[in-house]
Amino acid sequence: MKLSAVILAAGQGTRMKSNLPKVLHSLLGKPMAWYALEAVRQVTGDRPVMVIGHGADQVRQALGDQAEYVLQEPQLGTGHAVMQAEPLLRGKSDLVLVIYADMPLLTGETLGRLVEEAQSHTGPVSMLTVTTDETRSFGRILRDPGGQVSGIVEEAQATPEQLSIHELNPGVYCFRAAWLWPALKRIALSPKGEYYLTDLVGMAVTEGHAIQTLSMEDPNEVIGINTRLHLAQANALLSQRINRQWMLAGVTLIDPISTYIEPGVTLGQDTILWPGTYLHGSTQIGTGCVIGPNTIIIDTKVGDGCTLLASVLECALLEDHVEMGPYCHLRKGAHLSTGVHMGNFGEVKNSTLGPGAKMGHFSYMGDATVGADVNIGAGTITCNYDGTHKYPTEIGEGAFIGSDTMLVAPVKVGAGAKTGAGTVVTKDIPPHSLAVGVPARVIKVLKK
Ligand code: UD1
Ligand code: CA
Repeated sequence: MKLSAVILAAGQGTRMKSNLPKVLHSLLGKPMAWYALEAVRQVTGDRPVMVIGHGADQVRQALGDQAEYVLQEPQLGTGHAVMQAEPLLRGKSDLVLVIYADMPLLTGETLGRLVEEAQSHTGPVSMLTVTTDETRSFGRILRDPGGQVSGIVEEAQATPEQLSIHELNPGVYCFRAAWLWPALKRIALSPKGEYYLTDLVGMAVTEGHAIQTLSMEDPNEVIGINTRLHLAQANALLSQRINRQWMLAGVTLIDPISTYIEPGVTLGQDTILWPGTYLHGSTQIGTGCVIGPNTIIIDTKVGDGCTLLASVLECALLEDHVEMGPYCHLRKGAHLSTGVHMGNFGEVKNSTLGPGAKMGHFSYMGDATVGADVNIGAGTITCNYDGTHKYPTEIGEGAFIGSDTMLVAPVKVGAGAKTGAGTVVTKDIPPHSLAVGVPARVIKVLKK
């Protein structure tokens, strides 16, 4: 049976008190709506239709071609919202899944089970229900004495007796398309002036159909985000879910509560994360690494067996067995080859450090190519910027750069060359020679 999906995201989200549309508020580095898109993608494969309204342009721009968009203007309720998707979907699918963009904990697995439920019955409406004491102003599920669903009543319209019902409507449905599209047009205006999607349930029952319900085990999955309190709560739960998955996959988290791993990150077995580790974006960490405490890694690939202590890495590439920290900063384009050692207070930007290169103390390498086994003495820096342009520095294999050397780029230090402490290098130094002074002069040819 062909399945399509509609994600509702047109509401204003007033209680967020924000200029940003609610569904773009970030959870673990992704906009809230990304989670709905991801869950739907897991069950349909197709692009869903997203109904947008408030902040439509911003939403469309932020989410791009992950969805097809349809504008709901004005916003006349959840039933009216789904109606907007009809021109895009009518005749194209047998089942229509409807979810909200502000329920980021809902999993593809649960949606899959709901779809299976819908496929195994002929009724026009299958829906999730959840039983919990935290009613969160959800609509209440009404059942007849035989236990069959007879309707849904919104909290605002519920009688005191109905309010005491704790089986709730999370607002996640799978409809038979052939029934849905005409039925939507028959919804009557509510006392609040809206077309309630929930009225479809009562309508189906009146027509003699049974409603299929799938009761959820984990009420946390349907936490809807309405305030920043909910946002923080969802953030913590998502984080727990991700951390748990990595622990079960063989990664040690010394203190999961203070370890932050975004959904796009991957980690290898036997890696240990100390508290205060923040792994962002597309970061990939290999096996057997020890990371943290207090380390931030953004969009960086780290090989196997690396040790990274109290450092910040952005858009960098580390091969295997790199040792770093404390207090190093890798910026965009830093490439550290196998066995590189960086001690405290090192910064590398747009530079490659060859295998086994050492940079122990207080150094900056910018726009540099550093050969294998080079030793960079304490306080050495590349003077790569003249206020207008950036220039490259090359240091040949096995060179020994004395403490506090200033490499005034563009400049090359030959393989096996040495500089004395405090040297200011303004011209190229030939291989295997010793240069000293300000500006540097070659005073000796070295044995190879
Ligand atoms: C809805 C359900 C309620 C359920 C609750 C669960 C109805 C009438 N009620 O109530 O039974 O328990 O969800 O959260 O459906 N939206 C639009 N266009 C609109 C109105 C809403 O796109 O015109 C979107 C919102 O952006 C939001 C979602 O639909 O993502 C839910 O809307 P909301 O107004 O929060 O519905 P509730 O009143 O919470
Ligand atoms: Ca809501």
